[in-house]
Amino acid sequence: MGDQPLSLAERAAKVLATADGREKTALSRRYAADWAASRAGTGPDISIGTAEPPVHPARPDRPELLHPRDVPKRKPGSEAGRIALLHAVAHIELNAVDLHWDIIARFSHVPMPLGFFDDWVKAADEESKHFNLMCDCLEALGSHYGALPAHAGMWRAAEDTADDLMGRLAVVPMVLEARGLDVTPGMIGVFRKAGITQAVEALEVIYAEEVAHVAYGSKWFNFLCGRDDLDPKEVFHTLVRKYFHGALKPPFNEEKRADAGLPPDFYWPLADQVKPLPGW
Ligand SMILES: [Fe+2]
Ligand SMILES: [Fe+2]
Repeated sequence: MGDQPLSLAERAAKVLATADGREKTALSRRYAADWAASRAGTGPDISIGTAEPPVHPARPDRPELLHPRDVPKRKPGSEAGRIALLHAVAHIELNAVDLHWDIIARFSHVPMPLGFFDDWVKAADEESKHFNLMCDCLEALGSHYGALPAHAGMWRAAEDTADDLMGRLAVVPMVLEARGLDVTPGMIGVFRKAGITQAVEALEVIYAEEVAHVAYGSKWFNFLCGRDDLDPKEVFHTLVRKYFHGALKPPFNEEKRADAGLPPDFYWPLADQVKPLPGW
């Protein structure tokens, strides 16, 4: 018993139970390296195992978490606005670290190919890097993660889909992370205009790596639909309407969404405006 390495699900629960952002991401990256070594046969064998993840991941005392309507809006053209933008992205990335470990722990009882776990461990490792990159950018501008209030509603999608793996895949990677593909080019433009190269480079890393996270979502969503002989598009629409509160917001990054295996007929019918047909 004593020399048995922790299972992957137990490691996931430990990341979720770590409050400090830099500590959480350090543990996340170490566990991702351990998993890769186990899979390559160069490290101790790690089983999938099972664990009971917390309902809410542990979080630091700061930032203060506010209802989205109470989070102050700042002009993106100002220094304060750019810091607020980086702070908001850091908050999203920290949440994403927890979301990717949570899917592993929460659904470890569902029989899935090992590739499913490989993908989410890799995504969690990348989110950890993204959080650290955003913290580095904030610190270079004289701020830090926790200096500003942040959005309190980020864990809602995880709670709503805690018992539904297909619902989780539909809402988290295929809606929320796909939204990141839509908005990141605009953010890169803000920092390029301000000449803040460090933030431009960090956001470009995030932009490139997030395409794969959306792709993991659509890959495993389609896999589960195929296993149960379901029509992926119909099921996607049903699950997003069930679990996602609100309409999807165009404009969409159709090119990167296509790269990630998300065709337009998945997301356009859920948009809050009807796409004009070509030539109309
Ligand atoms: Fe990310
Ligand atoms: Fe991601």
